Amino acid sequence: MAIHTLDKSNTADISLIEEAVKATAKSYAPYSNFHVGAAVLMADGTVYSAANQENSAYPASVCAERVTLLYATANSASYPVAIAIAAKTGGSQTTNVVSPCGECRQVLREMELRYKHNIRILMCGKSSVMVADSAADLLPCDFNTDNLHP
Ligand code: THU
Repeated sequence: MAIHTLDKSNTADISLIEEAVKATAKSYAPYSNFHVGAAVLMADGTVYSAANQENSAYPASVCAERVTLLYATANSASYPVAIAIAAKTGGSQTTNVVSPCGECRQVLREMELRYKHNIRILMCGKSSVMVADSAADLLPCDFNTDNLHP
């Protein structure tokens, strides 16, 4: 488990990244103008993509990662193995890589525990991509079902 740069020979990762960039067009972000796209690869090969959906009551907004992951798992018998995240603002892809917020890390980590499989997280910028092999790399000492029990 680690955080590292993208292996550019991994064509499955490259096409998932392209789907995430495309999915920025599905964003509803009139308040931040930060259009985030996510693409989730399921173990059966299906790819789901979606984007952040904002609300005039700002805290009611939902990040691209959670919109996509929750739709994917609600509609599939399979489970997520990778997610790519990209963002555009002012029509151009961000230079900085997009890293999932704390709430999305928590959701990603619970999916790993639920399905007993790591999720590779591809955090994309215009010319660089950081890869975490597991949500555990982004959320050490997580809150999980063990913590619910005395
Ligand atoms: N956002 C995401 O969708 N994913 C992230 O990883 C970071 C932030 C959204 C939330 C909000 O709609 C906008 O980006 C600005 O924070």
